[in-house]
Amino acid sequence: MLWTINKIYNRTFQVLMKVAMPLFSFTVPELLTGAGAIKKLPARIKSQGLKKILIVTDKGIMGIGLLEGFFSVLKENGIDYYIYDEVEPNPSIQNIENGLTQYNSNRCEAIVAVGGGSSMDCAKIIGARASKPKQTILKMRGKFHVRKALPPLFAVPTTAGTGSETTIAAIVSNPDTHEKFAVLDTKLIPPVAVLDPELTIGLPPHITASTGMDALTHAVEAYISRGSTKYTDEYAEKATKMIINNLEAVYKDGSNLEKRNELLLASFYAGIAFTRAAVGYVHAIAHNFGGQYGVPHGLANAIVLPFVLESSREQAKEKLAQLARISGIGKGDDSSDQLSLKFIEKIKAMNYNMNIPTSVQELMEKDIPLIAKRALSEAHPDYPVPRMLKKSECEDLIRRLLPR
Ligand SMILES: NC(=O)c1ccc[n+]([C@@H]2O[C@H](COP(=O)([O-])OP(=O)(O)OC[C@H]3O[C@@H](n4cnc5c(N)ncnc54)[C@H](O)[C@@H]3O)[C@@H](O)[C@H]2O)c1
Ligand SMILES: [Fe+2]
Repeated sequence: MLWTINKIYNRTFQVLMKVAMPLFSFTVPELLTGAGAIKKLPARIKSQGLKKILIVTDKGIMGIGLLEGFFSVLKENGIDYYIYDEVEPNPSIQNIENGLTQYNSNRCEAIVAVGGGSSMDCAKIIGARASKPKQTILKMRGKFHVRKALPPLFAVPTTAGTGSETTIAAIVSNPDTHEKFAVLDTKLIPPVAVLDPELTIGLPPHITASTGMDALTHAVEAYISRGSTKYTDEYAEKATKMIINNLEAVYKDGSNLEKRNELLLASFYAGIAFTRAAVGYVHAIAHNFGGQYGVPHGLANAIVLPFVLESSREQAKEKLAQLARISGIGKGDDSSDQLSLKFIEKIKAMNYNMNIPTSVQELMEKDIPLIAKRALSEAHPDYPVPRMLKKSECEDLIRRLLPR
């Protein structure tokens, strides 16, 4: 009885959200694209009369000298820049606050985020805090609590990726509770993004694989979501096809600029799709592996994806079959049933070929009830998943991920 009421509440909420969606102003960032595009950014920044910026990035990116060319062009354009390169993977509240201190003490006027989702999300919340100094990060948790324009924000993804350069989301870690939570607001969509494949050439194979599978998960979860629309389906289909056709090759040989560009675009398209249609249980569960054990976001998604798809295959069959068709998986006369199975098998094969495991090494039986509880409270009612899971079903699914 309680379950039925819960289900009706969730589904009603999701229908209302879908109907209300066009009322929110989801913008798409202005793009600077192509190899070397980051060198065009300083002129773009200058065109807004901005003279002092904070660059938010991490030590890994600084360490490989990825930004030297960008720094020179900033100097040529007379733009003063300060660097906050302390971003941690899955940035914590304190990590973001430290960046805010830099922003304020240097009296910056704008933020350039360069890096993966961690740097972009950190930069988004630094911006939100700069605009709303009295509101704590914990008070920004959830939907539409920011509501005020951020300082000018320029996003430069160097993984492909989270799609954060076009999403309303920033994911924050709370080390006190071992949770990751989302801040969701259309004000967090960066007005300008740079998609420069040269920046991703040096991305190591294991990060290429896990971040690429994150983007694939965005596309697939958005596509099978009940919140999907014709618009989001178009982007999710394009992204899925591009990732399935390119990711393994780039994993083997990261130097192909054209394929790197495809992946960067695919990640952006997947971001457009999921920020409107939402993600699903893969993300809800993976966020907890991140919060609880520090498992990198993309890796967690890659491991969980085939298990969640298997559990919702009956309800998502037609959509999964369609993704198989457009990605060139299966034969012309295969039934939807066969194609949906082949699509899931393809994902498993991609994981296998890219050395992604089939279980979560850190997972312990004793943690499963809490992980399931938190995953379901993240997903319900916000994620319009094709099949709703009860707590015991979610626990069983997570149990299949125990190390064997
Ligand atoms: N805002 C969103 O919409 C959204 C969506 C999905 C995930 N996320 C969040 O994004 C974070 C994960 O982001 P990520 O997967 O991009 O990883 P990341 O930003 O944590 O970066 C992973 C590692 O890759 C390195 N790296 C990045 N680019 C590189 C390059 N070009 N060359 C060499 N090394 C490079 C970094 O130094 C870092 O060590 C998580 O916190 C996740 O929850 C956000
Ligand atoms: Fe993700």
